[in-house]
Amino acid sequence: MATTLLLFLLLIGFLALLWLRFGRSRREDEPPLDKGLIPWLGHALEFGKDAAKFLTRMKRKHGDIFTVRVAGQYITVLLDPNSYDAVLYDTVSFDSSRKKEALMKKIFSVVLPSFNPDKERAWLEHHFKGDCLDELRVSMDTHLRALLLADQRDLGTAEWREEGLFDLCYSLLFRAGYMAFFTRDDNTDAVYKQFRNFDKLLPKLARPNLSGAEKKSATSSQETLWQLLCPTGPQGGRDSSFWQESYLKYLGEEGVDAETQSRALLMQLWTTQCNAGPAAFWLLGHLLRQPEAMKAVRTEVRGVMQEPSLRHSPLEQLLTHKTPVFDSVLRETLRLTAAAFIFREVVAGKRLRLSSGQEYCLRKGDKVCLFPFVSPQMDPEIHQEPESFKYKRFLNDDMSEKQSFYKGGRRMAYYNMPWGAGGNSCVGEQFAISTLKTFVFTVLSHLELKMCEPTDTLPLVNPQRYGFGMLQPSGDLQIRYRFKRNR
Ligand code: HEM
Repeated sequence: MATTLLLFLLLIGFLALLWLRFGRSRREDEPPLDKGLIPWLGHALEFGKDAAKFLTRMKRKHGDIFTVRVAGQYITVLLDPNSYDAVLYDTVSFDSSRKKEALMKKIFSVVLPSFNPDKERAWLEHHFKGDCLDELRVSMDTHLRALLLADQRDLGTAEWREEGLFDLCYSLLFRAGYMAFFTRDDNTDAVYKQFRNFDKLLPKLARPNLSGAEKKSATSSQETLWQLLCPTGPQGGRDSSFWQESYLKYLGEEGVDAETQSRALLMQLWTTQCNAGPAAFWLLGHLLRQPEAMKAVRTEVRGVMQEPSLRHSPLEQLLTHKTPVFDSVLRETLRLTAAAFIFREVVAGKRLRLSSGQEYCLRKGDKVCLFPFVSPQMDPEIHQEPESFKYKRFLNDDMSEKQSFYKGGRRMAYYNMPWGAGGNSCVGEQFAISTLKTFVFTVLSHLELKMCEPTDTLPLVNPQRYGFGMLQPSGDLQIRYRFKRNR
């Protein structure tokens, strides 16, 4: 008994020594330091469980800047949007590629032999503008209408179908997007099924806190997708799309071997397809819950889609017509549900000057995290009743876009940041906006859509998805739909 007690005391003493030796303390000119109670892990559990709740709590406790310990790493969180530029545009003191490389390895098992983020960014930018953007838009619209036409043939015009709105939006946008970017149309359903499983487990894969069974399931979906996406895989590739062909050529020129190319394809599949479906779900869900907003959008839909037919592309009218109500609805939806982290690594000791004039020293090797979802997007000092969906929030009385938002009397440079900012912002922004507009206008002009239970509310957000782009619901909203007649 006495020996056990002695061993126990020795262990406690050893842990205390470790704590004193490796525990970090705050220097006078550094941001407030909150290490949490658990050695090494720090706040990892709370951060992973619900990052928005945790960071909002820390903001209340410490203010707009603080450093937290998360699984052995020190992360300085900055939540003052008027100071974001000091991080975003300083490429000498901050690096964005190391974190990206680490995530590529952890989530997608991709290690590129000579990762060159600037070159990759230039490739991406080229493929999302000008003729390439036009080509992608046309392809996306064509595939979307073809999917709806096939559905209409199956269903006829009299029959109502019941489905989850999230499943409907994700499935249509994913399948159309996959065919637009990857062009193999013989395995779309198989790819979608595996993708949804992989996407569901992705936040846990990133942390990583998968159970044994989940790890097995994620690995199996990942391996199946590598095969399905591989242009020379067992099923044989049909026509490779311009986008996919060009990406593989780019990787080949970078000296990337065939196996890594398939893995990189899955990474691009996720990056290009994981956001539009969830965004369409939240947008239509809010409209279904708010008849006044739905009525205002439907009026715009009628103005643009005068004689809607699934056989003719509405793209030109859509891209040329002004749709201020829809634009505000989209901005408001994204304000409430786009929640990516913006990470940087401090590569040279840095004195960071905030908009308040206060200066803080950041240590080399630490991470910096901006989380625009908490501020500006959900900041009650910038947006009144930030939890509520207000479809006119981004509209002035004269129907122009509202761009002036204030905090403490000061005009905000950033008041909504769904697409991120700086060198890693979303390159697909223009494509995503036209895709969502085409989708919503096409669906509203061809489908009668209603909630199964008119009193249903939108499902809550799955809190594990904070940090990974568009949020996803923790359940679904059951809807009924049927095709309108005479189309
Ligand atoms: C509502 C929809 C979308 C939202 C809210 C969104 C948001 C974002 C954000 C915040 C980032 C930056 C992530 C980071 O810092 O690492 C990003 C990156 C990116 N997005 Fe989007 N996105 C959306 C849709 C799309 C679509 C439809 C595409 C393409 C089809 C796309 C392509 C990309 C790409 C390729 C990147 C990586 C850029 C880089 O690494 O430099 N996004 N997106």
